[in-house]
Amino acid sequence: MIITITALKGGVGKTTTAIHLAAYLQEKASTLLVDADKNRSALVWSREDKLSFTVASQASATAIIQKFQHIVIDTQARPEPEELQDLTGSSDLIILPTTPNHLDMDATIKAAELLNSWGAKFKVLLTQVDPRTKNGRSGREFLTEAQMPLFKTDIPRLVAFERSPSRGVAVQNYSDPRSNFGWQQYVAVGKEILP
Ligand SMILES: Nc1ncnc2c1ncn2[C@@H]1O[C@H](COP(=O)(O)OP(=O)(O)OP(=O)(O)O)[C@@H](O)[C@H]1O
Ligand SMILES: [Mg+2]
Repeated sequence: MIITITALKGGVGKTTTAIHLAAYLQEKASTLLVDADKNRSALVWSREDKLSFTVASQASATAIIQKFQHIVIDTQARPEPEELQDLTGSSDLIILPTTPNHLDMDATIKAAELLNSWGAKFKVLLTQVDPRTKNGRSGREFLTEAQMPLFKTDIPRLVAFERSPSRGVAVQNYSDPRSNFGWQQYVAVGKEILP
């Protein structure tokens, strides 16, 4: 399966989502995360070799891609429409992460319009949802009203997600009381994709 994670906005949780979905898929079959972002955030995250799956740059992925059953592609923020169309053409599923912030959701709706016009299969994932407020619920209502296809699971905003990259680990291997809760939310998203 080829999954592309993209968004018109930066900082919405693309790389965090790519890392954790790749960790979920690796439990099913060999998985490659292709870091197609010039900032190489996923490659930096994987630098200490503590992740359960392989991470490669776009250029180096070409030589090894056939070895993998599942491919997750992490992209840069604000892709050119041509780039987005290229990526969507070769993916089984596009994931659009968004925070419940209105500007992010507005950009998500714009991305969805583009994807719809190309007939691409996509789903919106609410991320960085504050577990204590109702911002996730109002975000879900707003996106539902805009007829966005949504994952049933939201990703909570947790310190463990923020800090796990500095340790080079996925959240389930970061020592924090809420790490497992965060990981289980990505597992639930993974199950919505590939049970
Ligand atoms: N669920 C979460 N809880 C807390 N912090 C999060 C969560 N998801 C992402 N973050 C933090 O928010 C910031 C942006 O996340 P991330 O890098 O995954 O987004 P991105 O869309 O890939 O950004 P960019 O557009 O810069 O590539 C990072 O500091 C990350 O650690
Ligand atoms: Mg990123």
